[in-house]
Amino acid sequence: MHTPDGGKLIANFARHVCGLKGDWTMAEFRATKIAEIREQVGDGKVICGLSGGVDSAVAAVLIHEAIGDQLTCVFVDHGLMRSGEAEQVVSLFRGSYNIPLVHVNAETLFMKGLEGVTDPEAKRKFIGKTFIDVFEDEAKKIGGAAFLAQGTLYPDVIESVSFTGGPSVTIKSHHNVGGLPERMNMKLVEPLRELFKDEVRELGRELGLPDVFVGRHPFPGPGLAIRIPGEVNKERCDILRKADLIYLEEIRNAGLYDAIWQAFAVLLPVRTVGVMGDHRTYDNVCALRAVTSTDGMTADIYPFDASFLSRVATRIINEVKGINRVCYDFTSKPPGTIEWE
Ligand code: XMP
Repeated sequence: MHTPDGGKLIANFARHVCGLKGDWTMAEFRATKIAEIREQVGDGKVICGLSGGVDSAVAAVLIHEAIGDQLTCVFVDHGLMRSGEAEQVVSLFRGSYNIPLVHVNAETLFMKGLEGVTDPEAKRKFIGKTFIDVFEDEAKKIGGAAFLAQGTLYPDVIESVSFTGGPSVTIKSHHNVGGLPERMNMKLVEPLRELFKDEVRELGRELGLPDVFVGRHPFPGPGLAIRIPGEVNKERCDILRKADLIYLEEIRNAGLYDAIWQAFAVLLPVRTVGVMGDHRTYDNVCALRAVTSTDGMTADIYPFDASFLSRVATRIINEVKGINRVCYDFTSKPPGTIEWE
């Protein structure tokens, strides 16, 4: 990706030097995986945890195509989703695909447990563990499932296995349902293990998922909690959701959404002084982040025009109570990470 004509170089090597035909297509992948899933699962029951993101949704739709209602999806709604996204997941699965879906509203449980937690790893660990507990309870209620489906991608596989054979340093504890399969004695179904994100999107389109859903920016499992440094509570989540919605609305209106890998707002635990009309304000700072990337492993900042940023800042400050200052994050990855925690 970072080499001029890098793709062409590899293509020439693969096709002309090694003699490969290049006949790997998404339609063929879909058919092969469906056959493999049927073979693996037989007439067993499968449970799939939906995160609200693209990966688990594509995995679920593919598995449903393979085994129909032997699949039940469980959506643990931790109350840390973006504005309107939990509702979209439910209506997509129940409405458009008619896939059996259990929607667990666990917002209160998550908010209660996050009280007083400020350390990023402690937040991630609490959310990961609670997610698994809630999921396990629901799985038990459904009963009799021998298989657990996950939208694990190839970068997740690489990140958890280092090339030198030793464990790679944990930068952040990633949130997934790790540990659950052993605890519940379930076998894993992971049909996306060999795919990169762009390929998952292509598979999603192949399966008929709507473009706006498939093209969604990646969203981390711990959700808004890792975009609110310091203590997380419902009030702060609501403030962030409003700012984030305005930011993304402006990005879409400017036709920039697809040129960006991820864009989101962050709510800082810092208050600054401002002036609105004749009044002094003392409110929170909001940071805006937007990056380009190919796989999330490295990232560059997206160079917005100053006029775009000032439009977003003005709207956020005018429309969101609780925010009186907006900053733009100019940190690439490395040395920064994409998420703030
Ligand atoms: P970082 O912040 O490590 O993020 O540069 C790289 C990519 O991974 C996403 N991310 C996560 N995704 N669970 C996920 O499913 C997580 O716990 C998690 N943490 C970060 C992040 O949004 C970015 O796309």
